[in-house]
Amino acid sequence: MKKIAFGCDHVGFLLKAEIVAHLEDKGIEVIDKGTWSGERTDYPLYASAVAQAVVSGEVEGGILICGTGVGISITANKFPGIRAVVCSEPYSALLSRQHNNTNVLAFGSRVVGLDLAKMIVDAWLSGQFEGGRHQARVEAIDALESPRI
Ligand code: RB5
Repeated sequence: MKKIAFGCDHVGFLLKAEIVAHLEDKGIEVIDKGTWSGERTDYPLYASAVAQAVVSGEVEGGILICGTGVGISITANKFPGIRAVVCSEPYSALLSRQHNNTNVLAFGSRVVGLDLAKMIVDAWLSGQFEGGRHQARVEAIDALESPRI
């Protein structure tokens, strides 16, 4: 991925700055969807902005940070076309790309430190969707987004 949207809430903004710098060092363009301070705010705002950027094709993927990564990933997954994963270790981040074709990565600033967060991000970015037996499973997930009644 060469262009990524990034979002966080007030709990995640310090870690976001560090990870944005890490991504830019790797030559990745980052579209920063906020928030930009420690002033209390609500994570659904930033999850929505990142999810919309991914679904619209403005960016290839998104990264989200809140306290745990939970609320912000739940929100992103409400958007059709989004497959967001919350990770606190690199193995799941890598496999989520290879097997699940995730397009949004989330983690928690209260859960992981800076070095581990960088490892998670690097693992996620390095993964390529393998298709094959995983293709139909991802399509089955996507099919659930259609009305079922
Ligand atoms: C904010 O206090 C916290 O709830 C939020 O950052 C996140 O952890 C929610 O899932």
